[in-house]
Amino acid sequence: MNLHIFLILLMLPLLKIWFDLIRGEAVFVPLPKTTIRKMLKVARTSKKDIVYDLGCGDGRVLIIAAKEFGAKAVGIEKNWFLYRISKWRIEKEGLRKKVKVLHKDFFGVNLSNATLVFAYLSKKVNRKLEPKLMKELKKGTRVLSASHPFENLRLVKKFKTGHFYSYLYVI
Ligand SMILES: C[S@@+](CC[C@H](N)C(=O)[O-])C[C@H]1O[C@@H](n2cnc3c(N)ncnc32)[C@H](O)[C@@H]1O
Repeated sequence: MNLHIFLILLMLPLLKIWFDLIRGEAVFVPLPKTTIRKMLKVARTSKKDIVYDLGCGDGRVLIIAAKEFGAKAVGIEKNWFLYRISKWRIEKEGLRKKVKVLHKDFFGVNLSNATLVFAYLSKKVNRKLEPKLMKELKKGTRVLSASHPFENLRLVKKFKTGHFYSYLYVI
């Protein structure tokens, strides 16, 4: 293969990330584990919870929620490569019975089973997601959002996580 074509092919995933960023989409930036722990602690996550991570990336939120807080967890990830990484990590951790990962767009998944929703997305995606959360989630469901607030959900706590704020809401 011509070297130029090879280099262009190599650049395609980076170009896609760049375009997504410009359009305000939520691209893969993993949260530090200390931040995830703090957020799940603030929401009083327990073994009674079913945690949905919307855009689960490499599965780290699911693993911490299940291993350290005893919760069941469902991750939804539209990027096939990240979905495979999540699946692999969950198998490796022996969490197959407690954690499920779906290779889907979360806008097409019914979220009504969740008791706690975790989101680290973007301002634009949160705005689009908010009506779905209000429509589908049961009364009393908690929603955690890292860095990007929701405009119309009932805010219970705003707290510092590293160099940004995170938010806890109750439906
Ligand atoms: C900022 S990362 C957060 C990853 C993980 N939740 C964490 O906190 O470490 C956002 C993730 O959401 C995924 N994502 C964005 N929009 C999505 C959608 N509509 N459906 C499913 N996944 C989506 C991206 O592919 C990316 O992996």
